[in-house]
Amino acid sequence: MPQPQPPPPPLLPQFPRPRRGAGAQSPLRIRPPPQRPTRSKTPLILAAGVAAYGLSLYTTYLYTTLKDLPLAPSSPHLQPNHAKVYNALANEYDTNIWFSELTMGLPLLRRALARRAHGHVLEASVGTGRNAAYYDMRKCTSVTIVDSSREMLEVARAAFAAKHPASSEVRVRCVQMDAAAPLPPPPIPPTLSSEGKYDVVIQSMGICSHEDPVALLRNLGRAVKGESEGGRIILLEHGRSRFDWVNGVLDRLAWGHARRWGCWWNRDVGELVERSGLRVLEVKRYHFGTTWWVVAVPPDKGGK
Ligand SMILES: C[S@@+](CC[C@H](N)C(=O)[O-])C[C@H]1O[C@@H](n2cnc3c(N)ncnc32)[C@H](O)[C@@H]1O
Repeated sequence: MPQPQPPPPPLLPQFPRPRRGAGAQSPLRIRPPPQRPTRSKTPLILAAGVAAYGLSLYTTYLYTTLKDLPLAPSSPHLQPNHAKVYNALANEYDTNIWFSELTMGLPLLRRALARRAHGHVLEASVGTGRNAAYYDMRKCTSVTIVDSSREMLEVARAAFAAKHPASSEVRVRCVQMDAAAPLPPPPIPPTLSSEGKYDVVIQSMGICSHEDPVALLRNLGRAVKGESEGGRIILLEHGRSRFDWVNGVLDRLAWGHARRWGCWWNRDVGELVERSGLRVLEVKRYHFGTTWWVVAVPPDKGGK
């Protein structure tokens, strides 16, 4: 009968078995890394699914609503004039538009516009005076603000008075009139060379609401000094985009927008400026090409 064999000698040195209690752990014992509780991805996937579903519903809703709306014409002669709505809008105008303007960065463009004002300045279609805060009055000899709506002009007067309390009535003159009609010369006696004309004419978001924007632009051209005397017309306007799909949306929503806000946002600003005969020195476009920055001068004498 075979005898039981003794166990083979251990290949590794044997360490004494750890004792129980504090300090009993072997220094060679490898501890497993602490396990992080695994986070479930389900809520994230659910939220993304709900968002995608909501977006597709909204897009479908927009598409089906838009496709049935009639396209508005983009020519001012075919668009009814709704400028009268500004009388009723005057007191709520700023509250209604400040946020969308802020998200579009318009305050920066307004600042750039008003900072170009110097000498005798005319601001046409001034509205509620949304550019008032950005004027540097030290550079302005006089500022004439014009609007056809008495209510809008009153808000603008208050805005200029609040932003520039030290400026007298002479320096900021409010004139309620059609900006396409012959404009008054600067209030302070003109020098012979300036022929009673303004150094700078500015206008923001005016082309959209004028009955005849070409007549307006020609009139602004007559009110400003010539290029060689440093005269400039600076426009910050909105209108048609560079993209057809954006224009499709603008054209379809234009009827309702014009009735509510008095403004036709689907006009071709570039074409209107060109038709006015003003000589364009600079054009920049923002927001898919719907926001226009235009610097122009009157046509050369003998021109259009
Ligand atoms: C869209 S608002 C813009 C106001 C302001 N310039 C701005 O940037 O917020 C257009 C303004 O043009 C004025 N307007 C419209 N037709 C005009 C006209 N024929 N003569 C003078 N102002 C006019 C309206 O009363 C209104 O205040």
